[in-house]
Amino acid sequence: MAELQFQRTGPRAFIVGWPVAHSRSPLIHGYWLKQFDLAGSYERVAVAPADIGTFLAEMPASGFVGGNVTVPHKEAAFAAASRRDAVATLLGAANTLWMEGGQLCAGNTDAIGFLANLDASAPGWDAADGRAVVLGAGGAARSVVWALLSRGLDVAVVNRTVSRAEELVARFGGGRAYDWDALPGLLGDAGLLVNTTSLGMHGHAAAPVDLAPLPGEAFVSDIVYVPLETPLIAAARAGGYRTVDGLGMLLHQAVPGFERWFGVRPQVTAELRALVEADVRAGQG
Ligand code: ATR
Repeated sequence: MAELQFQRTGPRAFIVGWPVAHSRSPLIHGYWLKQFDLAGSYERVAVAPADIGTFLAEMPASGFVGGNVTVPHKEAAFAAASRRDAVATLLGAANTLWMEGGQLCAGNTDAIGFLANLDASAPGWDAADGRAVVLGAGGAARSVVWALLSRGLDVAVVNRTVSRAEELVARFGGGRAYDWDALPGLLGDAGLLVNTTSLGMHGHAAAPVDLAPLPGEAFVSDIVYVPLETPLIAAARAGGYRTVDGLGMLLHQAVPGFERWFGVRPQVTAELRALVEADVRAGQG
């Protein structure tokens, strides 16, 4: 009976977070399910921090084949898994779950999503000499800093609380930590500036960054995508810099999970981007 139902409805995947109503992941996976004409679903599941342990423990018997994990549950998902991929292990956080041989497995696709987006939107971004400057030292910075180190870049981590930046570089044994005052000096020979802080996000203050010292050929990226054009991206465009916004990272990090749960490797197309972009713009009012 259960098998019959599976055949009719296909694999079920989820995104779990708290809150999760704002997530664009159901739109992305729903687009791909329709594009490939696959039976299956991708559902939002709101789980409070107090209940995430139970949710994860019950997942193998829940009927879900896997799912995505967003804030604030990425560390809990990592801890609950029986097996973890190499990147999740390095980051200590998971954003993708799946079942294998009855065991809960955890992976992290944020870093490869970040790199895939830069590779697709700004070919040659890592060819130039010079350092990458990362603003922020939270969970999002962890993925970005590791991604940049994995490409052999010299990474400067700039954070309001410098001790968090120091912890981050110590974790990976690479990069250097600075406080915000060092930023003008660091920008002078930077090839890439990435904002991973919540600064510039809808309802938050703008990142206080003067781009004047940044060389003209540098790239500027923001992982914030609400709004699509953050004050930092707007200033970079006005200054003639090449820019990469945050929406592409969201789209690219979704690819490996979809392939695991539904068996087809999807593409990040211009049509998909336009669909999600329209939804973000509508949400911005
Ligand atoms: P996430 O997991 O989304 O990265 P986080 O761990 O709360 O979230 O990290 C948020 C980042 O934004 C941190 O680098 C934080 O700086 P601190 O470590 O000093 O808190 C940064 N941030 C948030 N608000 C900021 C502000 N007003 N000025 C400077 N940095 C800010």
